[in-house]
Amino acid sequence: MTPVRSLLPSHRPGLILAPMQDVTDLPFMRLAARYGGPDVFVTEYFRVHRDSRPEAQIVRSITENGTGTPVIAQMIGEDIPSLVRTAGELQRYPVAGIDLNLGCPAPIVCRKDAGGGLLRYPDRIDAIIGALRDTVQTRFTVKCRVGFESDDEFPRLLGIFQKHAIDGLTIHARTVRDGYRTAVKPPRVADAVAALPCPVIANGNVVDVPTGLAWLRQTGAAGLMIGRGAIRNPWIFSQLRAHWEGRSAHVPVGRDVLAWITSLWEETASFQPRFEPQKHVAKMKKYLCYISQGVDDGGQFEFEIRRVRTHEDFFAVCRTYLEHDAAVAPTPPVTSTMFCGFSELLSA
Ligand SMILES: Cc1cc2nc3c(=O)[nH]c(=O)nc-3n(C[C@H](O)[C@H](O)[C@H](O)COP(=O)(O)O)c2cc1C
Repeated sequence: MTPVRSLLPSHRPGLILAPMQDVTDLPFMRLAARYGGPDVFVTEYFRVHRDSRPEAQIVRSITENGTGTPVIAQMIGEDIPSLVRTAGELQRYPVAGIDLNLGCPAPIVCRKDAGGGLLRYPDRIDAIIGALRDTVQTRFTVKCRVGFESDDEFPRLLGIFQKHAIDGLTIHARTVRDGYRTAVKPPRVADAVAALPCPVIANGNVVDVPTGLAWLRQTGAAGLMIGRGAIRNPWIFSQLRAHWEGRSAHVPVGRDVLAWITSLWEETASFQPRFEPQKHVAKMKKYLCYISQGVDDGGQFEFEIRRVRTHEDFFAVCRTYLEHDAAVAPTPPVTSTMFCGFSELLSA
């Protein structure tokens, strides 16, 4: 057993970039590091089944990372021999830990009883975690939601995590049924902090410094995992660090966001095995649905960017809304459907 605590700074809460499929690939991690970055990365999930082999593109985010930031490899699956085999394969790479995904709500994943779908079968989770605990020599961590249908299921899960002495737990504090549509449930994270000796990381709806601090105040968590908030605002990790170190933080203006989008385009384009501009516009739109939140009052930027098809139109729209030196809104609009319920963290 290797404590996750040794990956986290001792003088302040830890900061982790959330794993996000098709987002947190090698170029995204490198860029995140350039913008101040987290203390730990977690890979996109490796799909594990009887015939699987670790996906080469995801392996590159470990072997070619080059940022100096530790990388935990995440697996998703339900077949115990395959998970054990894959954990062994992944440990041949320079990983800081192996993480098990118990949270993905995608119907295609849940139908196979993997990810969040496994939360319906605590006995199965018990067996999987027991087998992985025996095989993982490095840190063994879990990322879960607070239940499948209801957070009343959470105490049973905590009992399993306690029994197998996992090295770290990240909680996206919603149920699988909640998807992304609800506010998060900090009391469940506080329960985990009280019950487990390992570091517990709070996840969900950290969009700025105040929402991050609200999480920590309400839960005593050892750190924060940040996903969509770091796509929208890659300065978020350095802003939190600046807060804890008593420094003033960078306040991004329109041109900074334009530069972020341009870097994302360039770095992720160079990572494509075969670059196709139109497909790349479609990929960029996935980032933009978060970045656009709050750029203008009426949501016109988001509306227009959804409709572009070409590289030229994409950047023309970006320049129209972002070629300026005024500060961009620090938070998404409270009505944002991409960040549902984030303001409730502040009012709790
Ligand atoms: C596009 C996307 C892809 C995701 N892929 C993964 C994944 O591969 N593994 C995982 O554990 N969670 C995944 N998640 C969930 C995030 O890690 C995180 O738990 C969730 O977005 C809530 O955190 P946030 O509010 O900071 O974004 C994904 C989320 C998004 C939006």
